[in-house]
Amino acid sequence: MTSQNVRARRIADIEPSIFTTMSRLAVEHHAVNLGQGFPDFAGPSWVIEEFITALRKGHNQYAPMSGIRSLRQAVANYHKRFYDLEWDADTEITVTAGATESLFSSMIALLNPGEEVILFEPWYDSYHANCRICGAVPVCVTLHKPDFRITPDALARAVTSRTRMIVINNPHNPTGRVFTREELQTVADVATAHDLLVISDEVYEFLVFDGRRHIPFATMSGMRDRTLTISSTGKTFGMTGWKIGYTIASAELTDAVRTVHQFATFAVNTPGQHAMAHALDCLEEYLHEFRAVYSGKRDLLSEGLRDSTLTAYRPEGTYFMMVSLPADAGMDDVEYATRLVTERGVAVIPPSVFYSNSREGATMLRLCFAKTDETLREGIARLQNGV
Ligand SMILES: Cc1ncc(COP(=O)(O)O)c(C=O)c1O
Repeated sequence: MTSQNVRARRIADIEPSIFTTMSRLAVEHHAVNLGQGFPDFAGPSWVIEEFITALRKGHNQYAPMSGIRSLRQAVANYHKRFYDLEWDADTEITVTAGATESLFSSMIALLNPGEEVILFEPWYDSYHANCRICGAVPVCVTLHKPDFRITPDALARAVTSRTRMIVINNPHNPTGRVFTREELQTVADVATAHDLLVISDEVYEFLVFDGRRHIPFATMSGMRDRTLTISSTGKTFGMTGWKIGYTIASAELTDAVRTVHQFATFAVNTPGQHAMAHALDCLEEYLHEFRAVYSGKRDLLSEGLRDSTLTAYRPEGTYFMMVSLPADAGMDDVEYATRLVTERGVAVIPPSVFYSNSREGATMLRLCFAKTDETLREGIARLQNGV
């Protein structure tokens, strides 16, 4: 039996993710890793203490399938406090194994083979893979550099009679865009006009800089009951390894998502849920420092690259930064990134893998600044002269 024919058709052309490849090269070459999107520093010690307390209190068996009540209620409470959105913790909120499982369970639950899903490219890789696993067809709308804006014409051109869903990610990985109300309205208008579902991936909802405010897509007029909002405590508290995310949606959509979730993971780690229930209740005290730390890191990286051969696009949110390759680089992003890791010892992500229509990704690199200042300074030094 060859490895080709053990694979089901639905995954036949899905390749190992670029993160796996770049992380392997980073280890092999002892590189500074500005590639994969997670912090290289510990999350808040008070959240860790809550986890330990939960373990000691004996919260070590299966949690309920939909998540522990106090965490679902904490999610509902902060949506009320921050966004004035009302959600029923029992019927409209489901705790999942990270946002990754939210995306997977939602897409499997709602998409039929042959239906089309509009993605904005550069996309987060699991949207595209999930479409293919579902037998759905990704239809990509390019967010063009330098401003990476959503435009009504491009979106309208992507809609057909087979379109079922739009996936939006705001704040946006990898461009660092925080979409304006006007751009979100463009998406909402198309969703209403064509009766579409919307997945709104808001895992970076609290990473917005320079006084910007996050606008949850479900707050747009008419969007509450057609939107599945997905977020992740892994991003909010810098604890990506705990894998605690959630999906918020109307009871009807939630019921469909839970049908898949109960067989995909059933329940998510119990002590971590207890810790995150407490952590979400303390968001107000936590966020000020969280944002200040990350906007400081953004400034450190963008200022550090000012005299380099790479040109930074200053992010409005998230912990990612796109940079342009020098015009005379003479090579694409994959070759550039491979040479950076093997010759200069710094790992980055070549973003062309997040595009299916445009070749623009081949002119840029994605850097992650969720790293200690020491790591960032070392990365800047190694990036300074390019390859
Ligand atoms: C846009 C986006 N969505 C989802 C995820 C996955 O989140 P989680 O680690 O909670 O599964 C990530 C992680 O990088 C992301 O950047």
